[in-house]
Amino acid sequence: MSKEAATVSRTPIAAIGSAHAKLIVVGEHAAIYGYPALAAPLVALPTRCAAVPTRGALTVDSPLFTGRFSDAPPSLGGIRAAVQTMLARFGHPARGLALTLQSQVPVGRGLGSSAAAAASVLGAIATSFGATLDAAQMQELMGIAESFAHGVASGVDAAAATADGVIAFQMGKPVTDVPPGAPLHFVVADSGRPSQTKLAVEAVRTRLWSRVRDTSSRLELLGRLAEAARDAAQAGDLRAIGETMDAAQVELEALGVSDPALDHLIRAARVAGALGAKLTGAGRGGCIIALARDGTQGNEIARQLLAAGAEAAWHAGFAEEDRGA
Ligand code: MEV
Repeated sequence: MSKEAATVSRTPIAAIGSAHAKLIVVGEHAAIYGYPALAAPLVALPTRCAAVPTRGALTVDSPLFTGRFSDAPPSLGGIRAAVQTMLARFGHPARGLALTLQSQVPVGRGLGSSAAAAASVLGAIATSFGATLDAAQMQELMGIAESFAHGVASGVDAAAATADGVIAFQMGKPVTDVPPGAPLHFVVADSGRPSQTKLAVEAVRTRLWSRVRDTSSRLELLGRLAEAARDAAQAGDLRAIGETMDAAQVELEALGVSDPALDHLIRAARVAGALGAKLTGAGRGGCIIALARDGTQGNEIARQLLAAGAEAAWHAGFAEEDRGA
């Protein structure tokens, strides 16, 4: 769908859009400054949107708000703006559809709840009009939604919310699949404390102004670590992936986006035998990610993280044959 009017059906039909949570293996924060990141889907936490044609206003029924889309609160402002942009390009007024959004992605935990919601809503509406959004079109619309949620968004959350496997992301470049050379087993654990992406992103930006050299070199290093993690994932070198994750956590701590609850869970994951562990997402609350040797060890790490106080833990596994979207 270009910025010109797209060829779409005039009469929408019932349709479903789906997406899922995301996890960032290495590269959060640095991604905003144009450095590479390695990310993946967390399919254990899906979102789904049903679009049904109606004769009335555009409405939404969601965990955050139910009513006319035009009355939606600021928390849905990004999705609303993206939907309006897409409908304008379809040449269709913002009416005549009832959207029902269901999400299992915990809100404000650094798992991309806003990106997953936006991707499923946009996907449902596009399908309803018989339009197919390619990756670049989806990225552009998701960018509109995500900049409302984050202030500044690199697009990594949007890319991973619709990916099928591990991806290498860099702003302004096509997303590439990273087929792992050996099965990957990640454990994601929720500290139970909200992660405020906008504030964490602003804190790094403020630090960049006050400590330019130190902050820039740490962001650059995070980008190099993301590339190293990508190469190690492709080579199936689990130990090397774990090392890049640990090294990334050192940088994220120095940037001031970790916190005692995350540090505690990261230590617990390492004590449980994780090959590497770090925060995932914006930090300052939210979740950690740990790499396990295999599924069995992953279950044990998850058990120990829950015993150490994690509110919830999920498994994200990627087989050798998995390919990204
Ligand atoms: C949030 O999941 C990742 C950040 O790097 C923000 C972004 O890249 O949009 C903190």
